[in-house]
Amino acid sequence: MKKNILYAQSGGVTPVINATACGVIETARKHRDRIGKVFAGKDGIIGILREELIDTSKENKSAIAALRHTPGGAFGSCRYKLKSIEESRREYERLIEVLRAHDIGYFFYNGGGDSADTAHKVSQIGKKLGFEVQCIGVPKTIDNDLPVTDNCPGFGSVAKYVAVSILEASLDVESMASSSTKVFILEVMGRHAGWIAAAAGLAAREEGDPPHVILFPEVPFRQREFLAKVKRAVERHGYCSIVVSEGVRDLDGKFLSDTGTRDAFGHAQLGGVAPVVAGIVREKLGYKYHWAVSDYLQRSARHVASRTDVEQAYAVGAAAVELALEGKSGVMPVIKRLSNDPYRWKIGETTLGRVANREKMMPKSYIAADGFGITAAARRYLAPLIQGEDYPPYGRDGLPKYVRMKKVLLPKKLPKFEV
Ligand code: F6P
Repeated sequence: MKKNILYAQSGGVTPVINATACGVIETARKHRDRIGKVFAGKDGIIGILREELIDTSKENKSAIAALRHTPGGAFGSCRYKLKSIEESRREYERLIEVLRAHDIGYFFYNGGGDSADTAHKVSQIGKKLGFEVQCIGVPKTIDNDLPVTDNCPGFGSVAKYVAVSILEASLDVESMASSSTKVFILEVMGRHAGWIAAAAGLAAREEGDPPHVILFPEVPFRQREFLAKVKRAVERHGYCSIVVSEGVRDLDGKFLSDTGTRDAFGHAQLGGVAPVVAGIVREKLGYKYHWAVSDYLQRSARHVASRTDVEQAYAVGAAAVELALEGKSGVMPVIKRLSNDPYRWKIGETTLGRVANREKMMPKSYIAADGFGITAAARRYLAPLIQGEDYPPYGRDGLPKYVRMKKVLLPKKLPKFEV
């Protein structure tokens, strides 16, 4: 009896999460003798609880292939945390009922650390309720903060976007600096980990190149040292280019940009630290400035994706299917680095328990001694991840040809369930 795959996207999307979906669906279609259909949760796990399952067999080959170059989350994603099995028992039972009703033998959850935790719990509860389902976590997060894997699909493309953006914007401010703007500030995502901010440092090829200052979440914000660094850059180079991570905290550990709102995972909603930093520069140094928050632009910039990242995102999707066919459960495919130069990598695997709810911060050895830049070791780690381009095809209207799924839902078999 052939079993179906249920795939769901979870948490913040990435420019390449659909390349992973493409890897899952195309690989499953190669194994029609052993795997039934691939269904996708509409808006992630929320859709699974509501029994809103998208039938990807209704999408033709070219639409599925186009997922590889389409940003966003093609089936919809969500921030929805299932608590412990004791607290959310009814929801876990409902998940199993839905899986059972639609002959699901394999559950693939494409997300970060929280999602690995959920996939882990689903595999446990499945066993308890006597329903065998193979649960596989599929890594993704632009924050690059999952443990075990060398890097996370999604990160390389965001890294490339921020490095290219600060390189370009710095040329602009350099042109204007003699009579006008002297400081440019780019805010980037990354929550508690400074990987994305660090990647912007790749734009500086030689000593004195921008960005001149990087503010990491791992380094408490020290205003006096920061201002001295900005002033020195303006005096030396005529301008100062700054990258600030949304997760920067003050000496008391408080986010400089906490909006006060929490998401379903209890994470603080961040964003808006660039104007805070700009305000400090204006008040204390009086320089004219511009600032930008890269926000969702960085998370969706598929036009400037890293080819390495696209290939890895596809590979983890394909590997999830292979692991399922090998009979594995409670595992996640990971990226292993074999060498830096030339950069070589392969897919390995780990258990979900080792990934769930853990964040990988930047090691100290990647942050410059003064706390405002990256080291050669960081550069060695980061540089391969932005290698190569993978432009989407463009139409005659001058815009990328992105695909939208038809999202045909399976007929429901179960009573309604409120989420
Ligand atoms: O997915 C991680 C992330 O991109 C963080 O870097 C950022 O803080 C957060 O998501 C924002 O997500 P949301 O879309 O839920 O506001």
